[in-house]
Amino acid sequence: MSDKKHYFITTAIDYANSKPHIGHAYEKVTADIIARYKRLKGYEVYFSTGTDEHSLNVMAKAKETGVDPKAYVDNIAVAFKDLCTQYKITITDFVQTSEVRHAKAVSEIFRRCFETGDIYKGTYEGWYCKSCESFYAQGELTEDNCCPTHKSKADLIKEDNYFLKITKYTDKLLKHIEDNPDFIQPETRRNEILAMLKSGFRDVSVSRPGLNWGIPLPVDHTQTVYVWFDALINYATAAGFATDEEKFKKYWPADAHIIGKDITKFHCIIWPIMLMSAGLALPKKVFGHGFLLNKGEKMSKTRGNIVDPVNIANVFGVDVIRYYFAANITNGSDGEFSEDSIILCYNTDLANDLGNLINRSLNMVEKYCGAKVPQYYETILDDKMKAIVEQAKQLHKVYGERMDVFNLSGSLDAAWDLISMANKLIEDEAPWNLQKNNKIHELETVLYILLEVIRLVSIVILPVMPDTASRIWAKLGVNYDEKTIIIDEELHFGKLAKGGAVAKGDPLFPRILDEKEAEKLKALKEKTLK
Ligand code: MSP
Repeated sequence: MSDKKHYFITTAIDYANSKPHIGHAYEKVTADIIARYKRLKGYEVYFSTGTDEHSLNVMAKAKETGVDPKAYVDNIAVAFKDLCTQYKITITDFVQTSEVRHAKAVSEIFRRCFETGDIYKGTYEGWYCKSCESFYAQGELTEDNCCPTHKSKADLIKEDNYFLKITKYTDKLLKHIEDNPDFIQPETRRNEILAMLKSGFRDVSVSRPGLNWGIPLPVDHTQTVYVWFDALINYATAAGFATDEEKFKKYWPADAHIIGKDITKFHCIIWPIMLMSAGLALPKKVFGHGFLLNKGEKMSKTRGNIVDPVNIANVFGVDVIRYYFAANITNGSDGEFSEDSIILCYNTDLANDLGNLINRSLNMVEKYCGAKVPQYYETILDDKMKAIVEQAKQLHKVYGERMDVFNLSGSLDAAWDLISMANKLIEDEAPWNLQKNNKIHELETVLYILLEVIRLVSIVILPVMPDTASRIWAKLGVNYDEKTIIIDEELHFGKLAKGGAVAKGDPLFPRILDEKEAEKLKALKEKTLK
């Protein structure tokens, strides 16, 4: 194993009761951008996702389609793996909770908690929502006894369960959250969890009786492990818990769990307490992102307002959707997702701002400098040139600070500020006039600045739009490779070698034509998941 510093990042694992939707793609892209960024910072990244398979809905769906639950989930897992491939998600592991390695990890953690005396038998009497597989107190439901998240009827149940002593650990957890402001992010999520803990959090059921799809309790084979206790352990499974001690020692605790805001209660209260009870270290950070909305409503299968991630990426291209997620949705907040807003974002940010800058700049370098990177004369900088060079010199710092707190849109803003300045510089300096007036040093310096801005921007967008970045590198004639590039060395103004050959080639983002787009969208809507 290498001695490189390492970083273990995870997404939630998705319910395997239906095909992936765009919300799943959003979460995976968010985590992937962070994973790629960490690699650029020199980390060896372990990145896991997977499918949550022991749910009641899976059992129902398998029965409905007449197949064995295992065959059913294996089929769905393929769809999620394909989604990762299509969206260029650089995972290193995919955990299916029906795998043997996972059953080993779950049994061992259950056994540890049981032996610590933190799991006891009791009777649960109350509400249960099959969609989120959650137990609810009466007061948490809507007036007509519906789940607050899914708006579907909850079931009133009474059954013997094993319970985990949450109450034994709440003070310790509160202290941990208060002492470690980074543990739960963003701040709104942290405050919600603190309020939940302070208002009193009851012990939770960790088993269900009479189900034949799930992991049997090591201490009572008439019960299976409750699906959330089971699913949360996937992170330990990925790190090698109970199967590969050396690997587990290396990667545990996880550096970051990237999850949606609907499941922070499980990740920030139940999961840490399971780990405390089992004597394992807590994850360093849980980041609860927001929801993709459709006209203000959460997109979900239950609400029937979802977009098929496969079709939309086929229409616009994966890089465009990845960029849209990162640039247009503030990480941690909800964001609208619609075809219209993607078109607007494409036309303005990608075609107008970035695409135009590259086209115009390379055009001029071909025309005025024989398609060679020109010289840069620092002594002749005027105020406008100085301002953009100064801003470019700040990029490494600003970008790093924003990415380190998972502020993805902020990191792109830093690049787009430079792009705007560069486009403005073209207008202000009018290189064609400099050429006409034989101001060759000024002309070359302006063009060098433009090429440098493009190179710097290509590095910033690399984790977000990997294909676009390498297409830009081909145009600039730089021989970067995502696997070897080190951001701390390259994200500095002035590194572009003078005299290198550039090639304008095809435009990167031709502007979307409205009519063509309408046709594509029509086809897309017809294919949207039923
Ligand atoms: N199986 C559980 C998670 C177990 S993790 C130990 C689950 N599955 S899910 O399929 O319902 O959701 C998986 C992830 O996708 C969650 O983090 C959830 O918040 C996220 N999203 C589901 N719908 C979403 C949107 N509309 N928008 C953004 N993310 C969404 O919960």
